[in-house]
Amino acid sequence: MCGIVGYVGPREATEVLIEGLRRLEYRGYDSAGVAVMNGSGISVRKAVGRLSALEKELASNAAHGGLGIGHTRWATHGAPSIANSHPHVSYDGKLSVIHNGIIENYRELKNELIAQGVKFASDTDTEVVAHMVAREFKGDLLQALAAVLKRLRGAYALALCHAEQPDRIVATRRGSPLVVGLGDGENFLASDVPALLKYTRRVIYLEEGQIAELTSAGVELFDRELKPVTGKEVLTDLTLDAAEKEGYEHFMLKEIHEQPRALAETIRGRVEGGRVDLGELNLDAESLKGVRRIAIVACGTSLYSGMVGKYLLESFVKLPTETWSASEFRYADPVIDASLLVIAVSQSGETADTLEALRICKQQGARTLAICNVMGSSIPRIVGGTLYTRAGPEIGVASTKAYTTQLAAFVLLAVGIGRMLGSTTQADEARLVAGLEQLPRQVNELLTDDIVAVKRCAKRYKDVFNFMYIGRHYNYPTAMEGALKLKEISYIHAEGYAGGEMKHGPLALVEDTFPTIAIAPHGRTREKMVSNVQEVKARKGVVVMVSTLGDEEARELADYLIEIPKCEEELSPILAIVPLQLLAYYTATQLGRDVDKPRNLAKSVTVE
Ligand code: M6R
Repeated sequence: MCGIVGYVGPREATEVLIEGLRRLEYRGYDSAGVAVMNGSGISVRKAVGRLSALEKELASNAAHGGLGIGHTRWATHGAPSIANSHPHVSYDGKLSVIHNGIIENYRELKNELIAQGVKFASDTDTEVVAHMVAREFKGDLLQALAAVLKRLRGAYALALCHAEQPDRIVATRRGSPLVVGLGDGENFLASDVPALLKYTRRVIYLEEGQIAELTSAGVELFDRELKPVTGKEVLTDLTLDAAEKEGYEHFMLKEIHEQPRALAETIRGRVEGGRVDLGELNLDAESLKGVRRIAIVACGTSLYSGMVGKYLLESFVKLPTETWSASEFRYADPVIDASLLVIAVSQSGETADTLEALRICKQQGARTLAICNVMGSSIPRIVGGTLYTRAGPEIGVASTKAYTTQLAAFVLLAVGIGRMLGSTTQADEARLVAGLEQLPRQVNELLTDDIVAVKRCAKRYKDVFNFMYIGRHYNYPTAMEGALKLKEISYIHAEGYAGGEMKHGPLALVEDTFPTIAIAPHGRTREKMVSNVQEVKARKGVVVMVSTLGDEEARELADYLIEIPKCEEELSPILAIVPLQLLAYYTATQLGRDVDKPRNLAKSVTVE
């Protein structure tokens, strides 16, 4: 969480910083600030709230200069306030720092500094860095930072500038992302590539622990001991269009509508002639020899795709598979050894809990794979192989196209590994490949045909306080994900439950004002779901059913019916979630919520 940017060159730094921060606002939006070298010192401007507040502040109190750093904050230590906003300034007023991450030992460091007479202006963990580096500074910011890094524990991406070296930015990362952008006579820094795209597509992803020194003339990279290292320059294929709303009112709606294309991209080149080709993973029966168990680690929406992944892997790979919330995995005592294959799932590739769970697994000898959407992010860099979901940048905080493409990736992975291990039949492989190839068209149909029914449903139920989502087997995770979508953007309480569990407690909630969304497409649990719907109806509950086109019984039973095209049962979660994404979206917009930036949340959770 938090987005950081830096610029050095001939342009007005604040313009570049604001443009970059706009692209990073999804990472946090509690407050924002910039620090600019003004020729005689540092001008700092901050504002609480959205970036627009900072723009207003700059309009009335400009900060001129060609070097600057900027920050958009998701509060961890200290409430959103001007004092707690970044950039933070050192006690002598000469150094400024921005930070994404958490300095875990800040309390101990802060006490030391207080004992030395340093006065603190904020409640943040970051401020210790400003004072410590200022104390170490003997004319060389790079050396001062390197000395302080030895004492920092935790995760950080840091960027600093100093009034006595006004031509350079020094930056480093450990556990939080940081990308350098290369220009002609100018250079850039950002937490994520979209912040750079207006100026350059030439980027270097900083490696863990690397330190970068940026001037307008060039970028030098060092390891933690300050030995020069060479970074790998990459030409990113992301485009600015991909990071724009392109006429949609919100990124979330755009991203929902991008799903046909995202699915087509995710499948492209990986299925052919009725077969799955996972050549990019360099896996075969030999490299999988000895794998006896699979564990999926992920958070939030990615965790729900992992729950579907478990069912798929058990069906087609026939190895016991567990799904773990990464934040739980870290503090439990899971059995990890060389017989375990761990699959991490993450849109951003930066989620701190998922990353740490992976590190633990690697240390203990497990083999690792990832399903991830962001090239160059931290998770793909530490795993044995990554199946990228080619969904394109997902900016809306609520994950949509990342989820459906993760599900498609799990189908590919389960069938692909199943074939390598001889546990998937050719008929199943051909059946699922054919099904996958239909998906882009089917999602497109859904997006056209379902909108009216979904909008009506959203209008009818937007004022209720509670929702229940139920599903079974492949669509039990759909219930969890549907409920998560609704709560995170509309702030209506919603619970996702296994349909069969209703009678073990939640049925007590049902009354005539209580809506249950029942996900009941055709397949082995459809009839059981119909019985669960009957149980709700018998208690006067209201039921919205998501069922397969042509299901007459559902038509008779449901108060509201949302129909999805006929598909292979294993692929039904990919179709069933689409109307539920739209339901959450239209409910939230009718309630006037800030859909792309829901309160208290941020897109990329790089803190524990
Ligand atoms: O980037 P990741 O997929 O690792 O993120 C995991 C969760 O933080 C994320 O899915 C979150 O739950 C979404 N906001 C849900 O829409």
